[in-house]
Amino acid sequence: MALKAVIFDLDGVIVFTDKFHYQAWKKMADRLDIYFDETINNRLRGVSRMDSLDIILERYDKEPLSLAKKEELASQKNDEYRELLKTMTPDDVSDEVRETLAEIRKRGYKIALGSSSRNAKFILERVALTDAFDEISDGTNISKSKPDPEVFLKGAEFLGEKPEDCLVVEDAEAGIDAGIAGGMKTAAIGEAVGCGKADYALDTFQDLLKILV
Ligand code: BG6
Ligand code: MG
Repeated sequence: MALKAVIFDLDGVIVFTDKFHYQAWKKMADRLDIYFDETINNRLRGVSRMDSLDIILERYDKEPLSLAKKEELASQKNDEYRELLKTMTPDDVSDEVRETLAEIRKRGYKIALGSSSRNAKFILERVALTDAFDEISDGTNISKSKPDPEVFLKGAEFLGEKPEDCLVVEDAEAGIDAGIAGGMKTAAIGEAVGCGKADYALDTFQDLLKILV
């Protein structure tokens, strides 16, 4: 079956906001005296904000926190994360990514974003990339985060394409699982290559042009 559209994850694929997530979660973890490192941070890729908090709190050994307290912590983390996002500029998207996205569109494929982040539109504006996407499916239009396929299924629906005609590009195993669960083709880049579950493994972003001929 010929591919007609590509649905991109954002963090870790198009931009590298994962380091900002790490810094903001690390601050919160330090305040609560919880151990947190890059390995635990890798488990947060593609996972919603509240689910990420629950993963970090697995190592919290004091009294269980109320939902209100957890919401306060997540909101504080998000405020700190957004302060870091404000430092982003169009230079935070590589020429390779910009040119590859333009070429994919030139070749006739539709392009959507499929990100668990509620900050996705803000990030795309910061890096001047909103126009590269025909549709945006993000954390604001889903109730279940990856590995549930909802964000990608919504992306395909917004594009008017069948899931099986879409290629999902992901740096997270949870995202590859979501693409597979949605009946889509999958391409892994970065961390996700190691899980070995994707249809394609990309060494570089522009390797997509070998798949999307
Ligand atoms: C995903 C990230 O894109 O968005 C996750 O990979 C993050 O690490 C999730 O937790 C939610 O992001 P936000 O911006 O809504 O807190
Ligand atoms: Mg990602």
